[in-house]
Amino acid sequence: MHIPLDRGSETPLYRQIEMFIRQGILSGSLAPDTRLPAIRQLSRDLGVNRITIENAYAALEADNLVYSRVGSGTYVLKHEPLPPLPRAVPGAPWPLWQKEIQARSIPIRSQLPAEILATSKHPDLINFAEGIGDSQLFPSDDFRKVIQTIMRRDGISALEYGDRRGYSPLRDTISHVLATQGIQVHADNILITAGSQQAISLVAHLILSPGDVVLVESPTYSGVLNMFHLFGFKIVSVPVDQSGLQVEKLENILQLHHPKLIYTIPNFQNPTGTCLSGPRRHMLITLADRYNIPILEDDFVGDLRYEGKAQPALKALDPGGRVLYVSTFSKMLMPGLRVGFLIADGPVYDELLKLKGVNDLATSSLIQRALEAYVTVGRYQAHLRRTSAIYRRRRDAMAQAIYHYLPACVNTHIPYGGLFFWVQLPDYLSSEELLALASKEGVVFAPGLSFFPNGFEDACCFRLNFVSNPPERIEEGIRRLGIAIRKLENSQ
Ligand SMILES: Cc1ncc(COP(=O)(O)O)c(C=O)c1O
Repeated sequence: MHIPLDRGSETPLYRQIEMFIRQGILSGSLAPDTRLPAIRQLSRDLGVNRITIENAYAALEADNLVYSRVGSGTYVLKHEPLPPLPRAVPGAPWPLWQKEIQARSIPIRSQLPAEILATSKHPDLINFAEGIGDSQLFPSDDFRKVIQTIMRRDGISALEYGDRRGYSPLRDTISHVLATQGIQVHADNILITAGSQQAISLVAHLILSPGDVVLVESPTYSGVLNMFHLFGFKIVSVPVDQSGLQVEKLENILQLHHPKLIYTIPNFQNPTGTCLSGPRRHMLITLADRYNIPILEDDFVGDLRYEGKAQPALKALDPGGRVLYVSTFSKMLMPGLRVGFLIADGPVYDELLKLKGVNDLATSSLIQRALEAYVTVGRYQAHLRRTSAIYRRRRDAMAQAIYHYLPACVNTHIPYGGLFFWVQLPDYLSSEELLALASKEGVVFAPGLSFFPNGFEDACCFRLNFVSNPPERIEEGIRRLGIAIRKLENSQ
């Protein structure tokens, strides 16, 4: 049998042989009961290892295309072609059980409505809508090398489930990094999760039941609003100003609504970029103590500070374990790692660990080991310094462009860190209408609506990501935005 082989191809040789014979069987050119060449013979003819042929035959046998007779060889099995898949009739109704699920569906918010992207025909769209860093800066080469090193060093153990709490050396490292930020925590109180989104979800599951009240900032991270809506919680909110959550307004709300959990983003808040002031941090802890409510502190970009002095984490102000702290490597490093973590104490930690186990058994051992190797060799700190310097220049570029190109009627503050500018239009202008115009000019952003728990309030705000584009693109994007705002003003 002559089988053409491409030795330069990425497709392994056994797979090329298997595919060639498979095609022969399916097309009928190899009739049922035809004897395939003996393994030794074919390996000689093709100049490949016997194992290569054995693997190819085994793959065909696994798919019931051939069978082997002991001592006699491998034969083509009678092949019954599968009936063609019935074609879905366009517009045909879904079965009842599907319809029931559809009827319960809860709409979720999107930072950038899909229809905007679909209708924007602009060939060179500048995107300020995302909630992530610049993927061009991901340390992908370093990380590839680290993964290879780990596979050589740890072999099979890197591919097992591993410790459900997370890879122990990584938890040690995180506890050291947190100590430099004033949070003293033992590695046994750290639980590694699939991103901080999973950490938030585990905490929400543990503390709240459908119908319970959860208190959030307004505006806040839309991914958590979606989660809380889907889980059936009642969302009550407290507004955010330049110094973060308006804690002065909290006590009345606590008395009125008795929330079971307070969710807050004290550093470079998503979407407003503001930080909770020192006095408000203390006041928040005092109130949570007084009303016996746990706090979920989401520190998603605390490390990305470009100026100013960091305030202590709520977790550092809380000796009693009232604060559950979550953070992530997604924004400082790479979101595709899906590594985040939470800190909790006592029975709450044990229960969260159980939930983590039933949720996904464990977070990838290989990725955690690679991350640990990357973080400890100091490259993480170097990467953070380099990234922060670049992001700071981009923030300055966006601030300058806003000053230069946007009309005086818009208002914003320069954030000291994080990823976002939060821009306020005059209240007679809608950010949704602006987005439709801006996308035609070739720039998109995240309109305010998706960040507000109660829908339509403050539809005149929007969020600009300043880290994900280089300065020239930032300038061009803001110039286009200026044109769109003026068009919107003129149309009123
Ligand atoms: C405030 C905030 N918290 C948590 C997350 C979840 O991120 P990850 O699951 O990648 O850690 C995000 C993602 O955008 C976020 O903006």
